[in-house]
This record gives sequence, structure tokens and C-alpha cells, in this order.
Amino acid sequence: MSAALRAQTARLFYAIAFDGRSANEVLLELRQQISDRHEQGFVQECLFGTARHFEKLDWMLNQLLSKSFKKKDNDLRCLLLTALYQLFYLDKPSHAVVSESVNATRQLDKDWASKLVNGVLRNAQRQGKELMSSDQQPLNVQHELPQWLFKRLRGAWPRQLGAIAEAAATKAPLVLRINQSHPEAAHYSDHLSTANIEFETHKTVESAIRLKQAVPVSQIPLFDEGLFSVQDLSAQLAAWILPLTSSNKVLDACAAPGGKTAHLLERHQLNLTAVDKDPRRAEKIHQNLQRLSLECEVIAADAGQLEESAFDGILLDAPCSATGVIRRQPDIKLHRQNSDIAQVVNEQKQLLESLWAKVKQGGHLLYATCSILPQENAEQIKGFLDRHPDAKLEPLATDIMALGIDTRFGLQILPQNWHDGFFYALLKKA
Ligand SMILES: C[S@@+](CC[C@H](N)C(=O)[O-])C[C@H]1O[C@@H](n2cnc3c(N)ncnc32)[C@H](O)[C@@H]1O
Repeated sequence: MSAALRAQTARLFYAIAFDGRSANEVLLELRQQISDRHEQGFVQECLFGTARHFEKLDWMLNQLLSKSFKKKDNDLRCLLLTALYQLFYLDKPSHAVVSESVNATRQLDKDWASKLVNGVLRNAQRQGKELMSSDQQPLNVQHELPQWLFKRLRGAWPRQLGAIAEAAATKAPLVLRINQSHPEAAHYSDHLSTANIEFETHKTVESAIRLKQAVPVSQIPLFDEGLFSVQDLSAQLAAWILPLTSSNKVLDACAAPGGKTAHLLERHQLNLTAVDKDPRRAEKIHQNLQRLSLECEVIAADAGQLEESAFDGILLDAPCSATGVIRRQPDIKLHRQNSDIAQVVNEQKQLLESLWAKVKQGGHLLYATCSILPQENAEQIKGFLDRHPDAKLEPLATDIMALGIDTRFGLQILPQNWHDGFFYALLKKA
């Protein structure tokens, strides 16, 4: 890879790490700037990988530097972090990584730093392996988690901490949802086999299959025709858990981009309203439904302010810390902060309160988050049940409960190869 591409990678990583932009947004920009698929793949791998292993790479870089960078030179820090990622996590020839990273200083208009970059990377080649496994690393660095999240997770899940940290530092598999209402649904395995795509089925969730190797969705047969969607196993549970029958009046309160909306509509013919307060994200619900030939009313609004009520079922897939999906969005490690948690817990509480009033008697509200923090999950539901004597926590099917931990206030699924971290609590109105 050229020096120009490495400088570009450093700039894009800077946008994620120092300008707070999401990796997905930056990737869209990348696709506009670079047309070569191979180069796009390389940059994407470096951005996601460097974010995934940021704590370790940054600690290592600090050991290799005699003094830290000035703020205005954080682009060089990003150049070095992405180079260290290539040296220690990718199978790239190390002489090319070093020499092209040195040349990239010119592309960043910082020729003066070429000796520094050369020195740091050469030292990394010599001492890197030792540093990578050094027991001098603070515990959060060993677990590749930001300090605040490490502390919270160690408090919440002391026995599972190692597995959680490992999952957060590992790439997630590609899991598909088979559209069981598609005319070709019964033949999905023939289509995949014909395309030489190897997959496994899941013993509990019949809509889910996991690909043995990731392939671009454009290469999955009948993807454009709506036979499949990309959706993690845990996210697929919502439509299996919420007890609905055809023609029920249903609200998907935080619906964009519409993954769970579509799954609900694939399973039942519903009178469904999908709401999201972000108009740009709400637009994505239309696009998703169109590909799957599904329809429902889509509203861009604050779900808490809706006038309609008396719903048979409400899905509240609440805004959350997303700490259960770090393996899919590793930039969460860089962006989320301790102070965000109290704010998001409060938002969830407000939404639960206002949406509960819209559930009809005997109806259900399914509360879901892709968080693994008890404050957003079990503690949130415990508080809700204490405040609402008309709410009862419903038991979930035994095979679904077996996917996670029974917190007594809902099912907590921790991230692990097949599935992301997720929480579900099914509430029934007396
Ligand atoms: C976890 S995502 C939803 C994912 C979606 N259910 C799916 O399966 O594709 C949470 C969504 O909640 C939306 N949101 C946050 N606060 C909201 C509110 N007060 N009313 C409606 N939507 C809200 C966000 O814009 C975001 O799209």
C-alpha cells in the first residue's frame, strides 16, 4: 500500500479518534474518495482494527515515545497507531509498513517527523512482541477496554469479564436472517450452496444462519430480492419474543434503520407504526422495507410524544450505550464516555414511562437494549416494576432464556461468537 493511502488512513482515523465521527460515516467518505475495492478494504481494516485494539496500541506507542505528541500533531499519532496495527495484527511485510509510513509524513506535510516515525517503528519491530504481552500493562489495557468501561464491567460481570473483553476485541461473524415469508425461503440453503457460501443454522432461532466466512452482501443470492437481511442473532429475538397475532396494532417506537420492524412484518401481518425521532434514519426504514416488499406507516417523531395509544404490542428498542455490540462497532471504545450512561439511562426511563401509557390492558411492551450494563437493563426494569404495579414481567421461553443470564428482571445476553450482547424484558399490562 502506498504512502498516500497510509496518510489517508491516518487522516480518517484522526476523524474517528479526535473529531468524534463514527467509523461508518467515515467509511462512506472513504468510498467517495477511493474507488479501488482492495484499497477500500485495506483502509477499512486499519480503521476498525486500530479502534478495536486502541488501548493496547496507544499504550505501546506511549512506551516507544520519549515524549507525547502535541495536540496539533495527533495526525502523526494516528499514522503510528495504524502502522502499529499493521505490524502486529495484520500479515503485512514490516519493511513496507515502516518505509511507507515514513514516506507518509511528507503526505501529511510533516517531513520533519520522518526520522521520528522511522525510529518508533523500528523500535516497535524490536520490542513490540515483548510490549504486546507485557505484564506492565494496566488491567484495562490487558483487556483492551477504556478504563471507565473496564471498571463498570468488572463490577457487573466479574466472572465473565475476560470473555466479554475478548468478544469486544474480536470481529463479529456475519449472521443473516432468512425472510420466512419469502417464496424462496424453503430453498434458501440451495441458493447458498449454489453460490458456494458455507453456513450454519442455529438450534434455537430458526430464522438465523451464520456464514462461515464473511462475503459482501451483494454476493449473497437473492439479497436484493429480499430473501435475506443482515441481522445479529440477538437482534432477531425481538420478533420471536413479542407475542403478537395478525392484525394486532403495534408500535415499533425506536425503529430505525428498521431491522426489527421488518422482522416483525415478516412474521405477522400487522397494523404497525414505525417511529424514529431521527428523520434521516427514519428514511432508512422505508429503504429496508422496500427491498423486502413490506409496508407500514413510518413516522419521524419523538415516540414519547405520539398521540396514538391502545397498542397491543410495543417494541421499545431503546437508545443505549451499545456496549453489547462493540465487536461490530469498535469505535464505541473511543467514543462512549462514562458520563453518557446516566444520560442514556434517563432517556430510557422517560421513554418507558411515556410508552407504557400507550399499551392497552392485556397488551405487551418489549424493552430491549444492545447494552450489557445493568443500569440500563435489569436495574432499569426493577425500577420500572417498582413504580408500576400494573406491570408484570413475563417469563420467556426456556430455550431463549438459555441464550443468556436470567437477571430476575429480564434476559441478559452477553456477547459471544453467535450473538451480540443484548437485554430483553417482556412486560404485560394487567
Ligand atoms: C437501537 S436503535 C434502533 C434499532 C432498530 N430498532 C433496528 O432494529 O433496526 C435506537 C433508535 O432510537 C431512536 N430514538 C432515540 N430516542 C428516540 C425517541 N425519543 N423517539 C423515537 N426514536 C428515538 C434513535 O434515533 C435510533 O435510531
